[in-house]
Amino acid sequence: MWLPCGCTSKYVASSFARRILASHLHVSGRSRCNVAAFMPEAAGFEGVSGRAALRELSVSNSESFWAAVARHRLSWSIPFHTVQDCDLSRGKIKWFEGGKLNVSVNCLDRHVHTCPERVALIWERDERGSEMKYTYRELLEMTCRVGNLLRRHGVKRGDCVTIYMPTCPLAVASMLACARIGAAHNVVFAGFSADALAERIRDAQSSTVITVNQGVRGGKVIELKKTVDTAVESCPTVKQVFVAMRTDNPVTMTARDIAMEEVREQKMLKEDVVCEPAVMNSEDVLFLLYTSGSTGKPKGLVHTQAGYLLYAALTHRYVFSYHDGDVFGCVADIGWITGHSYVVYGPLANGATTVLFESTPIYPDPGRYWDMVERLKINQFYGAPTAIRLLLKYGDQWVNKYDRSTLKTLGSVGEPINTEAWEWYHRVVGDGRCPVVDTWWQTETGGICIAPRPSDPDAEIVPGMAMRPFFGIKPVLIDTEVSGELLTSNNTSGALCMAQPWPGMARTIHNNHQRFIETYFQPYPGYFFTGDGAYRSEEGYYQITGRLDDVINVSGHRIGTAEIEDVVCPAVAESAVIGYTHSIKGQGVYAFVVLKKGIDVKEADLSRQLNGMVSEKIAKYASPDFIQFAQRLPKTRSGKIMRRVLRKVVESDLEGLGDLSTLDDPAAVQEIIQGHEKLL
Ligand code: WTA
Repeated sequence: MWLPCGCTSKYVASSFARRILASHLHVSGRSRCNVAAFMPEAAGFEGVSGRAALRELSVSNSESFWAAVARHRLSWSIPFHTVQDCDLSRGKIKWFEGGKLNVSVNCLDRHVHTCPERVALIWERDERGSEMKYTYRELLEMTCRVGNLLRRHGVKRGDCVTIYMPTCPLAVASMLACARIGAAHNVVFAGFSADALAERIRDAQSSTVITVNQGVRGGKVIELKKTVDTAVESCPTVKQVFVAMRTDNPVTMTARDIAMEEVREQKMLKEDVVCEPAVMNSEDVLFLLYTSGSTGKPKGLVHTQAGYLLYAALTHRYVFSYHDGDVFGCVADIGWITGHSYVVYGPLANGATTVLFESTPIYPDPGRYWDMVERLKINQFYGAPTAIRLLLKYGDQWVNKYDRSTLKTLGSVGEPINTEAWEWYHRVVGDGRCPVVDTWWQTETGGICIAPRPSDPDAEIVPGMAMRPFFGIKPVLIDTEVSGELLTSNNTSGALCMAQPWPGMARTIHNNHQRFIETYFQPYPGYFFTGDGAYRSEEGYYQITGRLDDVINVSGHRIGTAEIEDVVCPAVAESAVIGYTHSIKGQGVYAFVVLKKGIDVKEADLSRQLNGMVSEKIAKYASPDFIQFAQRLPKTRSGKIMRRVLRKVVESDLEGLGDLSTLDDPAAVQEIIQGHEKLL
C-alpha cells in the first residue's frame, strides 16, 4: 500500500510569503493586460502592458520577476529572504538564500497530492513497442525506496553519488533519491569509457556508484557493470556499487557490490516507500555534471537546488508551450545536461509526462522516433540536429508512415541546425504546422537561454536561428578582435556573453572556483562568457555561429580538442586535433600527428591504435574520423601550433590561409596541404 511521504502542508507557501510576493510585484502605471493569463507567475505585475513588456521587466527588474516566479512555481518549506546575491566579476552567484525546499518533493510529492495516477515517465525501451509507464505515485515510491537504500548504506547529505546508467526509470529515481536525501549526484554518460568514468568519480570524490548489470542500445548489449569494475579499480574512494538489473544476464559481483535485486521491471520492491525528505538550502549542491573545456581535464560544473529547478521548470513551460496533460518527448540521454533539465527536472517539476528514450533514432529502422510519437502521443518532441540530418537522408517515407498529429512543438538543441535540416524537420516531421524552436544553451547555463518563442507563442520564427532571449536573460555581444568592447548596434557579430545573472546558471567548478572565474568571468570582466560566438541580426535576433575556443561539438557532444591530444600524445611526438564540418555529425574530429623519430610503424596500424586509445580513454564519439601523418606542424616562431592554418587546410580554403608571416617555416604548410590532399 502506498503511504504519502511526509511534508504536505509545510511545503505550501505561507501567507507571509504571499504578502512579500505582493509587495515585490507592484509595477506602476500603464494599462492592465492579460499577462496573468499567459504567465500566472506574473499575476502580480499589474499594469504591465503585454508579454514584451513583461520580458523587458524580467530583465530591468529581474529581482522582482524571479522572486514572483520562485514563490509561485516552487514549493518551499521556508521562504527565501534574499532574492539574489551575485557579483559576476567574482563569479559569485547565489539565489533565494534563506529559502529551504526539497527538489524531489517539488518534482514528485506535490503532484502525487493532486494527481497520483498521472503518468510521470514513459520508458521507451530499446525494444520497440515494449514501453512501460510509471505514475507519479510509483515514481515517488521508487525514489523513496532508493533514498532509503542509500541512507541505510550510509550515504549522507552532502555526499556525491555517481550514476552510470542508461536512460531508465531507476536512473531517474536514483537522481531524485539523491535529491531527496540531500546527496549530490554525478551522472556520467553511459557511453563514456572506464577511464573517463574513473576520472569523474575521483574528481567528484564519490564513495557510491549506481549502475546496471548491462545496458541495451540499438539491439546491442553494453557491459556497463564491467566498465564500472574497471573504473573503480583506480578509485580508492569507492566503497560500494549498487547494481540494478536491466537484462536477465547475471554479472560477477564483488564484495563491494550491492544488488538492487528486489527490483522487478525497475520497480524496487524492498525498502519502505516513505522517505523523509531532507530540508535543503537553496544553494546546497544538487548535482555535478562534467563537461569539456578548451584546456585541461573535464570540469565538474556545479548546479544548486532552487535556482536550477526553477529555471528548468520555467523554460520547459514557456519555450515549448508545454501545457498540463502534454506528453513531453525529449530524446536526450540523462548523461547530458539536456537530459537533466528536459527529461528529468523541468518536466517533473511541472507535473508533465516525460519520455525516457533508451534507443537510437535508427533502431530497428529510421522510423523509430515517429513510431514512438504515434504510439506515445507525444506533443513536444525535442532532439538534436545530428539525428535530424541522419534521418533526412533516409527519406520522407519513414516519417509519413506514422501519425504525428499530436505534435505541437518541435525542438532542436546541442549544435547549430542547418537550414536544410530545419526545413525538413518543419515541413516533413511537423507537417509545416509545428513551430521549430532552436534552443541555445549549455551545461553552464542550466537551461535554455535563447529560443524563438520564449515569451510569445505566436512570434515569428526564422529558420536556423535561436533568436530571442528567455525571461531574465540579457545577452550581449562583445568585440573579440579589436576593442573588447560591447557591440551595441545590430547586424553585428561578437563573443556571446550574459550581462546579468539568472537562477539557472552554474555556481562553480567542483573543487576549482579559480578555474570557474578564469574561464567564464575573466575574459570579459563583469560578464559571463559563454565560449560561443553569435551574430545579432538587423531585427535584433541572435544566431549562434559556433565555439570561439578549442571545444568541438561532435553529434551534439562537447569535446575539448586538448583532451584528444592528451590521449594520443604518448604514442606520437606531437599532435593537433581540430573540428571540421561533417554532414551528419555537425563536426568531425581531424587529427594531425607527427611520428616519434625512428619509429617504424605502418600508418594504418598506428591510426587504428590511436583510434582505439581515444575510444578507450574517452568515448567512441571522440575518436578521429581522419588521422593525417605529418613530418611537422605549422608553428609560429614562438613555437605555437597555428591551428587556424590547419582548419583552413581541412576546409580546403587555401585562399583564406591568411597572414603566414609569423610562421617559423612556410614549407610546413605546403607539406600539410599535400598530405591532406592525399588523405582525401
Ligand atoms: C552548442 C547542450 C548552436 C554551443 C545544451 C554551446 C548550440 C554548446 C545550440 C553547449 C544551438 C548548444 N545552436 N549551438 N541551438 N545549443 N549549442 O554544454 O556551442 O553539451 O556552447 O549543452 O553546444 O553544449 P552542452
